Amino acid sequence: MWSVLLLLLAARNSDSSADPRVDDAGHRFVVVFPENIASHSGNQQETLSAGQTKEILVDEELELRKNQISSKALLITSTEKITVRSCSRKLNSVQTALVLPTPQLGKEYFIPPVPQIQGTTDQVSLEVTERRPFSLFVISGKQQTTVTIGEVPPREVVLQSQQVLQVLVQQAGPRAVTADQPVAVLFGHACTIRYNCTCGILQTTLSPASDHKLRFFIPPFLVTDETRLLISSNESTTIRSFDPDSPLVETNGTALLYRPGFLLTLIPEAHFASCYVINRVKDMQNFAVILVHKHLTDGVRIGNDPLENPVWQELRGTEFVSTQVKVILDKSVLWHTSHKMAVYFHGNYGAALFGNPAPVISSTADFRGCLLEPEVVHIGDVAAGWRESVKYCRDKDLQLVSLSGSHNVTHIYQEMVRANNHSVQEAWIGMRRSSQSGEWYWLDNEPVNTTNWKDGEPGAVNEGQCAIMSLRSGEEFGWSDQDCCKAVHPVCYRPPLLFPLG
Ligand SMILES: *[C@@H]1O[C@H](CO)[C@@H](O)[C@H](O)[C@H]1NC(C)=O
Ligand SMILES: *[C@@H]1O[C@H](CO)[C@@H](O)[C@H](O)[C@H]1NC(C)=O
Ligand SMILES: *[C@@H]1O[C@H](CO)[C@@H](O)[C@H](O)[C@H]1NC(C)=O
Ligand SMILES: *[C@@H]1O[C@H](CO)[C@@H](O)[C@H](O)[C@H]1NC(C)=O
Ligand SMILES: *[C@@H]1O[C@H](CO)[C@@H](O)[C@H](O)[C@H]1NC(C)=O
Ligand SMILES: *[C@@H]1O[C@H](CO)[C@@H](O)[C@H](O)[C@H]1NC(C)=O
Repeated sequence: MWSVLLLLLAARNSDSSADPRVDDAGHRFVVVFPENIASHSGNQQETLSAGQTKEILVDEELELRKNQISSKALLITSTEKITVRSCSRKLNSVQTALVLPTPQLGKEYFIPPVPQIQGTTDQVSLEVTERRPFSLFVISGKQQTTVTIGEVPPREVVLQSQQVLQVLVQQAGPRAVTADQPVAVLFGHACTIRYNCTCGILQTTLSPASDHKLRFFIPPFLVTDETRLLISSNESTTIRSFDPDSPLVETNGTALLYRPGFLLTLIPEAHFASCYVINRVKDMQNFAVILVHKHLTDGVRIGNDPLENPVWQELRGTEFVSTQVKVILDKSVLWHTSHKMAVYFHGNYGAALFGNPAPVISSTADFRGCLLEPEVVHIGDVAAGWRESVKYCRDKDLQLVSLSGSHNVTHIYQEMVRANNHSVQEAWIGMRRSSQSGEWYWLDNEPVNTTNWKDGEPGAVNEGQCAIMSLRSGEEFGWSDQDCCKAVHPVCYRPPLLFPLG
């Protein structure tokens, strides 16, 4: 069974992310399903609501066979930002892979060294399937792409749009794949013998090459005696066994964790993030492995709650600790209230193992939850009056700020100070008197149940119909009433957009 799992982040389209590395969500993805020896149709359209997940079964015809080049790539596009995970199941074999959105793809990839596995071969031959070597799957994007396989001598292959190239990988290489357009690269094996003549697929999505030094911390929870670290960079490739005294790999390239039946791309410290999501694979044991700085364990949340009695294991000689949590809900949001961390997803079905780096929803921490779009506090240009200030903010898709009891007003004040930098002395806020009743009301219709009037304020009805706030130091953001036609700066606001935690 082949499937892709789609998760919609929010029904509001946010294109604010200038940095394409910030999360694993996007609008466009290409996926392939490598041949799975162990053992959808046409154009499908799905509509998801915010935070909703949908598993879509994929036509078996999409399973890659032994052809070098095929057109069996599945293109997934979405009007809003989604994350995508692929899953391949046959008999007792299960593998999942994180599908990167196209802006995160690269033009250069370092190929991991292949581990020695009993029952596989180093000979490039397609004859006996289960004795084949490891394979690479290079998927082109929208355009025709020239892919260079870094063998001796180098080999160039031209792929048309959304084609897949399979390359067999021997001990001796290739060491790198480069392309003139961004490509996706998967690495794996169709059938590594595990026991008693049964086998399972191995597969992982590679991260594009990096030209600076990366630090990979290996959580002890992912490790067994048979674990090997597959490290590749521009200069060398290394296979190392795991040493609990040095759980840190530093390289300018990529690092993978291998253990029989399981291949996992490790998350470098530079890509740690604040919010991840994990979707269970049904009917199987599912876990999250969390890696965080040892002084920041209190900030870890799963959904709305802190972790229950976590057992933190130290990564010797580093500042990091890790823990493993059983994942019970179909969808769990793992986030940190103030810092970044790493989260892996893994599971097992009997002896079959699967897993992938958990998809990043947000790299920026927010104490309120999993941040999709940060809040905006903007001190606007002087407007002719209160009414003009309301319009000024609306034109920027913001609202003249409301400071009712339902908001964290202390926090908004802090953000105003930051946005203002002492330049503005007073500003309009989103409160005024009703001309009928004379009662004060907030623009966002929340009740006026907590106020911050200055001493002696507000004055009589005829002294002013609109509320103004002081930003002078020492005045504690106190409010007073003012003639609505005074030309003052507005404080415009938009609350943060958060991913649903439940
Ligand atoms: C493999 O077969 C042997 C003998 O039939 C059996 O004892 C063992 O439990 C099997 N191993 C697994 C992992 O199924
Ligand atoms: C790897 O080396 C090649 C040739 O020296 C160079 O062109 C390329 O930029 C390097 N890549 C990275 C990611 O350092
Ligand atoms: C590896 O990274 C370091 C630090 O960023 C840099 O000085 C060095 O040139 C890099 N080496 C290669 C081969 O890219
Ligand atoms: C004020 O009203 C809001 C919204 O109904 C509510 O969340 C808040 O708890 C109230 N605060 C007080 C002090 O009554
Ligand atoms: C209000 O915001 C501050 C951060 O500015 C935070 O420390 C505090 O916990 C928040 N209070 C509530 C009730 O959420
Ligand atoms: C704040 O204002 C000061 C003095 O006008 C200026 O030097 C500084 O760069 C400003 N900082 C920011 C973050 O705008």
